Amino acid sequence: MKTAAAAAAFAVLAESAFAAGGSGYVEDYDFSFEGPFGKYDQQQLQRGLLVYQEVCAACHGLRYVPIRTLGDAGGPGLGSGAIKAFAANFDVYDEELEDFRAATPVDNFPVNDSVGAPDLSLMTKARAGFSGPEGTGLTQLFRGVGGSEYMASLLTHYTGEEKEEAGTTLYGNETYSGGWISMAPPLEDGLVEYPDGSDNSVEAMAIDVAAFLTWAAEPKMTARKQMGFVSVLLLVVLSVLLYLTNKRLWAPLKPRHGE
Ligand code: HEC
Repeated sequence: MKTAAAAAAFAVLAESAFAAGGSGYVEDYDFSFEGPFGKYDQQQLQRGLLVYQEVCAACHGLRYVPIRTLGDAGGPGLGSGAIKAFAANFDVYDEELEDFRAATPVDNFPVNDSVGAPDLSLMTKARAGFSGPEGTGLTQLFRGVGGSEYMASLLTHYTGEEKEEAGTTLYGNETYSGGWISMAPPLEDGLVEYPDGSDNSVEAMAIDVAAFLTWAAEPKMTARKQMGFVSVLLLVVLSVLLYLTNKRLWAPLKPRHGE
């Protein structure tokens, strides 16, 4: 068991070694997909997709995410008609046609380099929200690496200050490392109308879009967790059987106490 725990700790440390940033403040938001039995919340993913599409997509791309995966079980779970209609919103560059054409579900979300904003496909895995007690990584072992929390915090912790630097406006942000980001606060209360009438405050929308982008970066998380649980269960059963077999095999050769 010790080696399993050590291996898990090592995996977390290895992952966090690649996750940069996050010297700023990160709020520990609760997400439905946390913990060993966590699952994505389908309604939340749909709301997050809406926020992404109506707000973030103006500047950011999601180049590694195939549009058809919006229909996958465990994801936003859109129907095939809805996915087709959604894909038709985009133009993608077709290398064979050497021209732009309407996207279809087999295409990925579009690339967007228009304002130099980073692609968000893997962003929740590229940022660490929690680091912790110096060098041990223990905080990350218990609370996760925190990319989703980082994303939601980034959107909710603008200070309201602005400054000009070399011709660019920078916005004060408590989460962004360095404290100043060139992304203007993208959300304001009530910006996106949710069809299900959910809370559309800045904080609620930030959490929803962070959940969606976590799914985009790790669509198979739920399946991975279930598989992990089944494997551990199997190992436990196997250990019990081996223990009993061992006892039985050696029983005739071992003297009983008191005989
Ligand atoms: C008006 C354009 C614009 C919009 C809209 C926008 N962003 Fe950005 N975003 C940027 C730019 C530009 C940067 C790069 C900022 C920098 O490096 O200073 C950025 C950076 C980021 C980063 C990276 C921060 C880091 O740690 O490096 C994240 C995450 C992000 N945006 C998320 C979002 C989300 C989520 C939305 C939608 C709610 C959104 N953005 C909407 C322009 C935008």
